[in-house]
Amino acid sequence: MPEPRPTIDIARYTLDLWQLEAPVSWPSLFGNDRPVELEVGPGKGLFLINAATANPSHNFLGVELARKYARLAATRVAKRNMTNVLVVPGDARLFLARHVPPASLRAVHVYFPDPWWKKRHKKRRVFAEPLVADVERGLEPGGNLHVATDVEEYFGVIRALMSGHPRFQELPPPEPKSPEHDLDYLTNFERKYRLEGRPIFRASYRRGPP
Ligand SMILES: C[S@@+](CC[C@H](N)C(=O)[O-])C[C@H]1O[C@@H](n2cnc3c(N)ncnc32)[C@H](O)[C@@H]1O
Repeated sequence: MPEPRPTIDIARYTLDLWQLEAPVSWPSLFGNDRPVELEVGPGKGLFLINAATANPSHNFLGVELARKYARLAATRVAKRNMTNVLVVPGDARLFLARHVPPASLRAVHVYFPDPWWKKRHKKRRVFAEPLVADVERGLEPGGNLHVATDVEEYFGVIRALMSGHPRFQELPPPEPKSPEHDLDYLTNFERKYRLEGRPIFRASYRRGPP
């Protein structure tokens, strides 16, 4: 009979949105005062794991609406015993609006947000004016917003929204790196789309001083 798989305790990697202070104290959540980067919708968590491994002196927080993916991302983080990643199951829009202290984030990452193709569903898109306003408030001066999508039309909407916020300066788009192994991609969706040969649209912005 196969050995039962050990259960992985993800409790120390997940935060309950409804128990959090508004605003949170990053040092009390992470136990240190290192810079914090937030990912909106990390899905299965590849970006969180790769970025947090590559940047151990930064803390990373992913806010993921789908509980199944939030649990999966937290399990992957727990298996690696990472100390600089936390996952919040819940709505990143709510988290940014209520829980992020002003000018407290070093970077915000929004990768492959759901496109919600149907016209009547487009209002569900996460990248919309309220999110941009909250990212602008949450980023520290000099902090960066990074975005990627495979949907050209959505990319146009994102750039138009960003151009309405003159405090953001557009940076040269990041070059896609050549993967050195099968998990050496920005995110799980980036991996899927690059392997399919789809074009990917990327933009980065720096939040200027107040
Ligand atoms: C297309 S997937 C991309 C996942 C990941 N960023 C990647 O590139 O592999 C979009 C993700 O955003 C999550 N999501 C959608 N709306 C969200 C919201 N308001 N707050 C947090 N996550 C959200 C979805 O549950 C899904 O996991």
